[in-house]
Amino acid sequence: NWTMDDFINIQVDHIRKEVGDRKVLLGLSGGVDSSVVGVLLHKAIGDQLTCIFVDHGLLRKNEADEVMSGLAGKLGLNIIKVDAQERFLSKLAGVSDPEKKRKIIGNEFIQVFNDEATKLKGIDFLAQGTLYTDVIESGTDTAQTIKSHHNVGGLPEDMHFELIEPLRSLFKDEARELGEKLGMPYELVWRQPFPGPGLGIRVIGEITDEKLTIVRDSDAILRDEIAKAGLDKDIWQYFTVLPGIKSVGVMGDGRTYDYTVGIRAVTSIDGMTADFARIPWDVLQKISVRIVNEVDHVNRIVYDCTSKPPSTIEWE
Ligand code: XMP
Repeated sequence: NWTMDDFINIQVDHIRKEVGDRKVLLGLSGGVDSSVVGVLLHKAIGDQLTCIFVDHGLLRKNEADEVMSGLAGKLGLNIIKVDAQERFLSKLAGVSDPEKKRKIIGNEFIQVFNDEATKLKGIDFLAQGTLYTDVIESGTDTAQTIKSHHNVGGLPEDMHFELIEPLRSLFKDEARELGEKLGMPYELVWRQPFPGPGLGIRVIGEITDEKLTIVRDSDAILRDEIAKAGLDKDIWQYFTVLPGIKSVGVMGDGRTYDYTVGIRAVTSIDGMTADFARIPWDVLQKISVRIVNEVDHVNRIVYDCTSKPPSTIEWE
């Protein structure tokens, strides 16, 4: 009978054997998957692991600080933080196709890695937090590609690292269980899934600074109210999206013509299928009032009540 302790022992052994005295590089995204890989590798090979945490300008509010204090501060992982906001946002300017945005973000990520790895010298392995669901949805195991998840495939030919993907056989809930077993802090283990392309696929269409700010600030309010309502463990993933449409509203004596923010919240086991979360009306009302009051240029909130399938969880 397979247990998580067996999994840890087998993986730690395997990683030590494979890596020997060589060095591993890991890209931390701020999400659960790469954090768990980081902690697992740290357990296996300690300071032979160097993590690169790229702030691509598409992170959630305060996320960079939380990752640095949680993983570098508390757990002692060796993390280099790269401020690459300008680089990503200039490459993304004028691009509105979701798959193109994913490719740009994925490729840029790898460029940043290569740049950093070159500076570090002597890195032989690249670790990734690929889960079983990523493998399936990227079409590695099946013929159909649903979305090109950038953390699988898309690696340029000239990259010289060998890949280590210790979570390839795990579902998200198993990755969390692994994180708990490895002593990761609660808020990191129970962080909801966050896609590699980040807020870049939650601003629908072209990404601008103004739109990013609206998504980031409205998302922070949503998360705050979901936590206050005690729903953060029941709802699998919850976030706001900016469809980019404007509509008419009225504030005081004046007519407004401002953005609509969409709320997406789903229950799920593994992200493969999902049901829209039945958030109580009064919680939705608080979220709605706060977003319109506190975030500039928003005058309407809509709730996404479709499940997956036929929708996907993200809007792009
Ligand atoms: P969808 O939208 O396909 O999302 O129903 C399923 C899960 O995958 C996440 N997701 C991504 N994760 N890179 C990632 O690392 C991506 O390009 C990507 N697209 C979607 C999504 O947040 C959800 O948890």
